[in-house]
Amino acid sequence: MLTRLNEIEQEINTFPVSDKNNLEEFRLKFISRKGLISQLFDEFKELDKAQKAAFGKKLNEVKHLAESKYEETKTKLDELEAQKKEDIDLTLPARKFSVGTEHLLTKTLNDFCSIFREIGFKIAEGPEVEDEYYNFDALNTPDWHPSRDIQDTYYIDNKLNDGKRYLLRTHTSPIQARTMLNEKPPIRIIAPGRAYRNEAVTVKNYFTFIQVEGLYIDKNVSMRDLKSVLNYFVKRYYGNDIVTRLRPSFFPFTEPSAELDITCFLCKGKGCKACKGTGWIELGGCGMVDPNVFRGVGYDPKEYSGYAFGLGIERIAMMKYGISDIRLFYQNDVRFLDQF
Ligand code: DAH
Repeated sequence: MLTRLNEIEQEINTFPVSDKNNLEEFRLKFISRKGLISQLFDEFKELDKAQKAAFGKKLNEVKHLAESKYEETKTKLDELEAQKKEDIDLTLPARKFSVGTEHLLTKTLNDFCSIFREIGFKIAEGPEVEDEYYNFDALNTPDWHPSRDIQDTYYIDNKLNDGKRYLLRTHTSPIQARTMLNEKPPIRIIAPGRAYRNEAVTVKNYFTFIQVEGLYIDKNVSMRDLKSVLNYFVKRYYGNDIVTRLRPSFFPFTEPSAELDITCFLCKGKGCKACKGTGWIELGGCGMVDPNVFRGVGYDPKEYSGYAFGLGIERIAMMKYGISDIRLFYQNDVRFLDQF
């Protein structure tokens, strides 16, 4: 019996108890009611007195050894498990929430609109999918008019069978015609919105852009009013050192027509890459509403006169923030958007 006791003692000492599973094996093998130690105790009962005296002590030692190994390991494993559950390092910095900002074009558009609203302009809107009539015909641009070719138009399949031709508006000017048909002078509106042109994408051109249309109709409106309102906007937005210039141009819906140029904001007129050395940057077109447009919407050109303009929001923002590539607005790269 002594040799068996010694063997079992050795086994107890070497039995691996690294997790709950082998600890349970350990318990079954040695401590459980049918385990080895229990069996030894049964055999022990059968021994005579002298033998009992010889092995009793050792048997108890082996029993205690097994029990204490079991208890100690169990406590250790329980502690480890509890620790794992609370394994949160409270000293770690909290996770960062990134807060979004207004897109620079939205900001520019809002700034633009606030300036004009302060001086009495109402906001008007129109659809992006536009009837060819408002985009062209009502603006003195009939079918055969060569200027239709300049604005490479995205036409839309008409599934309505209503005899109309639809397109993605090529400018915000159709809102002029819509407003004139719905309201009576005096009219003083700005109409912001997206426009589309089938143009090759370059640093300066994109197939979509945001334009703001302006329209003011009343009695005795003159080119001077147009010039002063554009001048007012440019000084308010860019500062007093930036000046405006109206350069003669042509649009079917205005007569006379002009392009609005401002001092290049980047070189302050000295001439740089952005302004191709001229010192001037073009912001958009403008002019006095053509009498033909008035006739088309039922206004008497002898009674009313008015001015209109259409400015590009991307251009306005590029000048203000020194951005050299229009595509940056549309790439949604956070490294760009984050800067404003
Ligand atoms: N619609 C013109 C364009 O997109 C810009 C423009 C020119 C608008 C003259 C006007 C205007 O209202 O009077 O190129």
